[in-house]
Amino acid sequence: MLYAFVAALFASAIGSLRGFETPIQELLGLKNPEQGHGRRPNIVFVLTDDQDVHLSSLDYMPLVKKHLLDQGTYFSKHYCTTAVCCPSRVTLWTGKAAHNTNITDVNPPYGGYPKFVVQGFNGKYLPVWLQDSGYNTYYTGKLFNVHTVENYNSPAPAGFTDSDFLLDPFTYNYLNSTFQRKGEAPRSYEGHYSTDVVTEKAYGFLDDAVKSEKPFFLTVAPIAPHVNIYMNSSDVHDPNIVFKFDAPVSAQRHQHLFEDEKVPRTKNFNPDQPSGANWLLKLPQQNTTNMDYNDHLYRQRLRSLQAVDELVDRIFRRLETYGILDKTYIFYSSDNGYHIGQHRLQPGKSCGYEEDINVPLIVRGPGVAKNYTTSIVTSHTDLAPTFFDLLGIPQREDFDGSTIPVTNAAIEAAKAKRREHVNVEYWGFAGGEGKFDGTLHEHNTYKAIRIIGPGYNLYYSVWCNNEHELYNMDLDPDQLKNLLSRPQVAEVSNVAGLPIRKVVARLDALLFVLKSCKGRTCREAWQILHPDGDVLTLEDALEPRFDHFYEVDQKRVKYNFCSNGYLVDAEGPMWEKEGVIFRDGLMWHEWV
Ligand SMILES: *[C@@H]1O[C@H](CO)[C@@H](O)[C@H](O)[C@H]1NC(C)=O
Ligand SMILES: *[C@@H]1O[C@H](CO)[C@@H](O)[C@H](O)[C@H]1NC(C)=O
Ligand SMILES: *[C@@H]1O[C@H](CO)[C@@H](O)[C@H](O)[C@H]1NC(C)=O
Ligand SMILES: *[C@@H]1O[C@H](CO)[C@@H](O)[C@H](O)[C@H]1NC(C)=O
Ligand SMILES: *[C@@H]1O[C@H](CO)[C@@H](O)[C@H](O)[C@H]1NC(C)=O
Repeated sequence: MLYAFVAALFASAIGSLRGFETPIQELLGLKNPEQGHGRRPNIVFVLTDDQDVHLSSLDYMPLVKKHLLDQGTYFSKHYCTTAVCCPSRVTLWTGKAAHNTNITDVNPPYGGYPKFVVQGFNGKYLPVWLQDSGYNTYYTGKLFNVHTVENYNSPAPAGFTDSDFLLDPFTYNYLNSTFQRKGEAPRSYEGHYSTDVVTEKAYGFLDDAVKSEKPFFLTVAPIAPHVNIYMNSSDVHDPNIVFKFDAPVSAQRHQHLFEDEKVPRTKNFNPDQPSGANWLLKLPQQNTTNMDYNDHLYRQRLRSLQAVDELVDRIFRRLETYGILDKTYIFYSSDNGYHIGQHRLQPGKSCGYEEDINVPLIVRGPGVAKNYTTSIVTSHTDLAPTFFDLLGIPQREDFDGSTIPVTNAAIEAAKAKRREHVNVEYWGFAGGEGKFDGTLHEHNTYKAIRIIGPGYNLYYSVWCNNEHELYNMDLDPDQLKNLLSRPQVAEVSNVAGLPIRKVVARLDALLFVLKSCKGRTCREAWQILHPDGDVLTLEDALEPRFDHFYEVDQKRVKYNFCSNGYLVDAEGPMWEKEGVIFRDGLMWHEWV
């Protein structure tokens, strides 16, 4: 008894000594003097391309499970806000919604690397801000679309201590890629497997990063599981371009895996009735030949992800070998999601449906809960603010997103007050990426809200032809029953315990603010509608005392016409024009 007491006392004295010791040692930079890293953590960000949540790709990555899911936190309701590579990546690296970057497409004139430069973001995005705050920044893999063997140096992407980018027209060519190391000429890796090349380059940068005095941020961006693309020009508007989509290519060592796997046959897989809205309603049901090919494409995606799984394992081993795992955050995500056959769609992205917008996000690092899943709502707009927060950099006022809590306590605290919606937006084309139906579906332009709160789990969208959608995701997770497809349905049905009309009036008003919000108006959208601060959630807004305000007073989201870019004239009434907010056409509030 006495012995136990003394032992406990002794242990606690040691414990407090230890507790005291660490910060002082770190303060003096003595903990690992050979590395010279101070107290600021490092970040390694693995960013895949077109990786889904809903086609179960993570279930086929045992090493991602071992190092990330089992040892970190999974954000099951993480969303991209624009479901296509370049706009989504620009949002991710700037912390701004696509309507504030005006990078809304993968190609010129509305998107791609040249548009990123023209919009002035090459000096105003994450790597530059990280360098300014004392970080070394490294990047290997795909940065943006239309970053090419011709334009890579005019100008070069700013803000990188070192970089080795995949370049068009070889970016998506798994066995014939071209990389360009900072300050050097592009170099072909013909015959080498792209993801393995990325892994080697990531190793090199990790070695360099560890030798330096500064903390680091390393991004590793392989192209898997994107489809393979052969093109013989980087000018997508070249009338003679040869442009060929095919299934992703795996490393040779993985080519025989998963022979029996097929696209999950969910209710929305190639359904007997058309579903969705606009051009999707005209899609034919797919025949067996088509489905067989798409299952093959699916297996190729899983196979191509195996090299990424190995890449993750190798990075962890390196971090461990260097003894810096405990001061490094590892993020794993994808630029956008993917569909194969759902709603009769050919393989691709660009839609607002759950398969395309819900993307993986896994975080591991100091203080991050292990083997934990949270369903708080987060988005790619939140990632730059999150990195700022973790690295101790003050938030920027012009961020459209807000910090994602990563510790258990912070996640629990956030549940009560955190934003419960994501603003999804899209302009332009949706393209099939398989062998069948390479048609570009024009006017795939819409705005939407994905919202998850107590008693509701909804997706609401307005298309540029002014079709509307509302899905009750609790009852209809496959999004097969659009509650707004016939006007009379809206009069009779309930959602969240209330008539649909009442709920839609609130969602539409929120979308009306979000579609042109900036900075604080994006982060605090409900407060724009209720400056008194008494409404912070849909639940609050649903109170009957606001019925008149929402059902009668508010303007509705409405497009003037369908455009393939973000043209103000197409967007209908706007809350915010030139820094002034309009309400019913009258100025009512100066917003600085
Ligand atoms: C993770 O949690 C699950 C369920 O709580 C448990 O069965 C599993 O053993 C845990 N895994 C690890 C690696 O701790
Ligand atoms: C790689 O690309 C170059 C340039 O287009 C081409 O000449 C070469 O044949 C390609 N190699 C393979 C293996 O496809
Ligand atoms: C691409 O291939 C097509 C068909 O062979 C050819 O007409 C065109 O000139 C090629 N483009 C380039 C830039 O090589
Ligand atoms: C199956 O559908 C594809 C795409 O529409 C079409 O090209 C093909 O001819 C069809 N095959 C059969 C056997 O009907
Ligand atoms: C976005 O960019 C396009 C193409 O340059 C331009 O036509 C459009 O006016 C821009 N939209 C806004 C809102 O600035």
